[in-house]
Amino acid sequence: MARLTDGRPGPLGVARRRHAFLPGPVRRRESSLPADPSTAVWVEKYRPRSLAEMVGQEGIVPLLRAYAEKRSLPHLLFAGPPGTGKTTAALALAHDLFGEEWRQNFLELNASDERGIDTVRTTIKEYARSAPIGGIGFKLLFLDEADNLTAEAQGSLRRMMERYSSACRFVLSCNYSSRIIDPIQSRCAVFRFRAFTPAQLRTQLERVAAAEGVQVEPEAFEAMLVASGGDLRRATNLLQLTATYANPVSVDTVKRCTTTPMRSEVEEMLGRAIRGDFLGARERLYRLIAETGASGEDILRAVHAYVPDLPDAVVPPERKVELIDFLGEVDFRLAMGASERLQMETILARLARRTGTAR
Ligand SMILES: Nc1ncnc2c1ncn2[C@@H]1O[C@H](COP(=O)(O)OP(=O)(O)O)[C@@H](O)[C@H]1O
Ligand SMILES: [Mg+2]
Repeated sequence: MARLTDGRPGPLGVARRRHAFLPGPVRRRESSLPADPSTAVWVEKYRPRSLAEMVGQEGIVPLLRAYAEKRSLPHLLFAGPPGTGKTTAALALAHDLFGEEWRQNFLELNASDERGIDTVRTTIKEYARSAPIGGIGFKLLFLDEADNLTAEAQGSLRRMMERYSSACRFVLSCNYSSRIIDPIQSRCAVFRFRAFTPAQLRTQLERVAAAEGVQVEPEAFEAMLVASGGDLRRATNLLQLTATYANPVSVDTVKRCTTTPMRSEVEEMLGRAIRGDFLGARERLYRLIAETGASGEDILRAVHAYVPDLPDAVVPPERKVELIDFLGEVDFRLAMGASERLQMETILARLARRTGTAR
């Protein structure tokens, strides 16, 4: 059965390079929907068209709506993990600002386009120089993955932002704002997108499931929420994938469609480690890898989701904080190419040592 894999960043947000998934840097959204909507990709089909339809991101959406109402805005920087609505917010803003004419006033580029920064630069210049259409007086340029630009390329981007700012507002999107040079950050209103909460993910998934006539068993929903790690793109893709195999969607279907270990398996593994049984925990780990094909990242994501729910009596809150911190470090090591198995064992060893001797 198909597995859900993509080049998303690590579970805790350390970026891994994503492959350019489009032929060129220019993505004009002329015909984003296929002729037959029933074959559409759900992440596109159910992408909110207007800011008013967006779930969550309460710290962001009202401000963007105010920009749209006043028909005035500065350059914007959207920072946050994948699948948190950065592209959606840019599109919805364009839609609310320009109405029918949004396509003529919106251009989406990917900064990590494989044809190189010169292509991106030329395209930006051409677009930014041409006159806006309609009464707003400026248009939008959405530059995705801006944090993949070198400092030098960002420097030239900054100059373009200054030069063309009267007719063009730049909306930059990145995973980490720290990788954006200060002169750009200080010229932008910065918006930090957060991973969706399980309740928010669920709201959107339920909408989609209802619209598609898909039944989802409660446990299967839970499993999907854990597997998606706050990434709504991943959650929606998982729903669509599982729905092609079964209706109603059961927890088993979810399990077969994802490499994310089930909660019970993680619980069992961590339980052993916490009781000081390192070898038992490690045996569970090996079994998990062998049976589900889970990667280090998958396991780390599952452990990360589970830690806050460990009983306080067994692992006190301050220990949890420490552990979460450590998981972040492991995520970084994995991103740097450390051995997955070894890193997973380190987590178990740490749990076994700390809690085992404390008893
Ligand atoms: N606030 C939201 N409310 C409802 N659905 C959303 C929201 N934000 C994103 N989505 C859904 O999640 C998918 C991924 O969002 P996207 O904007 O592409 O994420 P990002 O650009 O941050 O990686 C979209 O296709 C859309 O269907
Ligand atoms: Mg995006």
